[in-house]
Parts: sequence; structure tokens; C-alpha cells
Amino acid sequence: MNASTGLIIRGAEILYPDGRLEKGDVAIAQGMIQQVASQINESATNEINAEGLTLLPGVIDPQVHFREPGLEHKEDLFTASCACARGGVTSFLEMPNTKPPTIDQTAMDDKLQRAADKCLVNYGFFVGATGDNLEALETVNPACGIKIFMGSAHGSLLVSQEQQLDPIFARGKRLIAVHAEDQERIEQRRQLFEGASDPAVHSQIKDKQAALNATKLALKLSKRYQRRLHILHLSTAEEAELLREEKPSWVTAEATPQHLLLNTDAYEKIGTFAQMNPPLRSRHDNDVLWQALLDGVLDFVATDHAPHTLEEKQKEYPNSPSGMPGVETSLALMLTQAKAGRCTIAQVSHWLSTAVANAYKIPNKGVIAQGYDADLVLVNLNDYSPVQREDIVSKCGWSPFEGWNLTGWAQTTIVGGQIAYHQGQFNTDVRGKALRFDG
Ligand code: DOR
Repeated sequence: MNASTGLIIRGAEILYPDGRLEKGDVAIAQGMIQQVASQINESATNEINAEGLTLLPGVIDPQVHFREPGLEHKEDLFTASCACARGGVTSFLEMPNTKPPTIDQTAMDDKLQRAADKCLVNYGFFVGATGDNLEALETVNPACGIKIFMGSAHGSLLVSQEQQLDPIFARGKRLIAVHAEDQERIEQRRQLFEGASDPAVHSQIKDKQAALNATKLALKLSKRYQRRLHILHLSTAEEAELLREEKPSWVTAEATPQHLLLNTDAYEKIGTFAQMNPPLRSRHDNDVLWQALLDGVLDFVATDHAPHTLEEKQKEYPNSPSGMPGVETSLALMLTQAKAGRCTIAQVSHWLSTAVANAYKIPNKGVIAQGYDADLVLVNLNDYSPVQREDIVSKCGWSPFEGWNLTGWAQTTIVGGQIAYHQGQFNTDVRGKALRFDG
């Protein structure tokens, strides 16, 4: 190790790849982990005393909406990446529903350049399907996968009919990630609730059957071509049960903290701030999704960070937009569940980091071991503090979890060996890198 460029983290409880938590030191140089040992005798220019803290692989959030270009009044890549750093998120995969949408190489190059200019954490982007950009779906690079909105339209990005979806599944090998909601059913049901302003009807318009129909269709097409499929933000017990019965080896699925921890009771408490797509379901759905995650039916956790301003969210339903922020709270929310005994810290780290790196074939990330990238987060599992609106760094300035008392907040977030965030302070000189996908 080159002492003049190195960083040593001392005395942390380290999460080892086999799930063990043991006290030790980690030496970092040239952006990589050089050594993990119970004690490192060398010294470095920069040392962190991590006594009492737990060192985890940085979170890789595989579903976020960061709004740049075109919707920067809600969020931009700088504010979003600061929010990531505060939440212990060291890499993100971003969705194509920006303005313009990421549907061709020009839009991808533009996003990559913007991210290189202003992101404190590592970044990757999906290419979005429009129904008439088949060629681009296979050639735009680098892309973590193809995103299909089967429902919940975003302008040209809606692809809902089987005859339009089939050629996308038939052609190429890339991972296809689907927002599975049946648009036709939603449009029919919307008429049934015409004039309703209670946000709770959102879960009835976009009902469980709408989600199940689309998930079934995506599975059918994936099986037809043995095509790599990922089902985004699974929301219902029925979809989880379907996957438990028949989940091909080439299919993965994710849950969000919102669908695991919030349910339709939230409409009473936070109204339109609980509105998202797919919508919140019942307590029973929370429990079934949680069990599916524990059993490996669901593979990992994503936030679907979808910021909208306070003013926008305060509009009366249905004029209020759907979506909630998440990157600042996902790690602490899940670690709080671990502390409460619902899972282990190793499982949380697997769902938020290791399994994501595996699914998207992101090399060198998601594990604390020699030779891996030094994307790390030190968390404090000793005390609890609440989610507070005034602490939110995301431009949206609110969280659906305000008031929740959480442990496991990130103290220090390290991106490529550099300290991007430390106890409320950001090092805005740090820049992440474009992720590689070896798929
Ligand atoms: O509620 C949502 N909002 N769900 C999505 O999938 C997208 C999103 C957004 O971009 O606002």
C-alpha cells in the first residue's frame, strides 16, 4: 500500500463476505480495498477511527428517478447524489423518464456527461423502451438494462400491449426491467372513480389485479424467449405467491421499503404523500412481501426514489403526482428492521448491495474484500434518531417516513476510496464513476 495516498479505517465492526461481523481494519488505496485484517500495522495519510461503528459495502440502489435533464425543479443529479451519499448509497441505476427520455445514444451520452460533471456517487442508466426504438434498446451503451413501463405512462415510454412487447423480449439478451401494471385495466377503473379526491382510491384504481396481470404477461414473454427479466417494485402478495410457485432461474424481482413497511393506512396519515405507482397495498401484502424477501423469492431492495416538490404533492388527488423519495432512508429503515429482529444485518447488506451487483453484473462491488472497489458506508447501530423533514437533502424536501425513529444512519460514506459524506458534511469535490455492466 502506498502510505501517501492511502486511507485506513480502524476498529470498525466489518461485515465479511460470509456474513460474519468482526472488528478489524481496512486499508484503501487507488480507490480499492487493499487489505482487510484484524489489525493493520502500517499507517496512512488519512485514518478514520471507526470504533463503535459498523462497516458495510456501499448501497447500490437499482431503481431511482433523478429528474435530470428536464425536471430539475424536483431534483438534479447533484442534489440526488448528495442525498445518496447521506443515505450510504454509493451507486445508483437511474430510470429513463426524464425530459428528454433516455431512449437513444444521444440522451445516454448527455446523462453520462451530466453525471460525470456533478455526481458524488457512481452511476448507471437504463435505456427506455418506446415501442419503436427496438434497435437502440440493444445498442445504446453503457446501459444497465432496458426499462419498460407496461403501465403508468410517461409520455412515449408506455409499452403496454403484448404485440408491442413481444419483439422487445424476442430480440437481444439485455436485462429487461418492467414496471408491471396493466394500463388498460387502470384506465377502465379510473372511470369508476371519476371525481374522487380521496387519495386512498389510488390503490383501488391501480388495483392488485392490474399489477398481477402485467407481471403474468411479463413472465409469459420472458419464458417464451428465456429472456432475462427483472420485475421492479413488486407490490402484491399475489405476485409474490406467483413467483414462489414459478420463478425461472433467469428472473429476478425487487421490493421497495415503502411496499414492505407502508400500507394503505398511510393515506389517512400522510394523504397524497403516500401516493405512488404501483400503489401501497395492505398490511397482509407487507408481510407476504417481507417473507418472500427472507425466502429469496424476492432478490433485492430498491427505493424507486421519485421526488416531487412539496407544492406538487400538496395538490388535491388526482392532480397530485405519484412517487416518494427514498435514497436517504432505505439503509437506516432496513437496518432498523434488522435491529428489531426481522432479519440480519448481513441480509440487509445482501439485499441492498451484494445481490444488486450480482443481478446487474456490476464487477468489483458489493463486497468488503481485497481487490474490490472501496465503496463503503460506516453506520452507527448504537442509537436511534428520527427522520426529520429539515434534514432531507433531496431537493424535494420531505420523506414519507418523517417521524420514524431509525438506527443505522450513515456516518461516513466512501466512494472509490474518497470520503464523500461525513456526519452531515459533504465533500462536493468527490466524483463517482460510470458503472460497468458485464452482462
Ligand atoms: O410512483 C412512481 N413515480 N412510480 C414510478 O415508477 C415512477 C415515478 C416517477 O417517476 O415519479
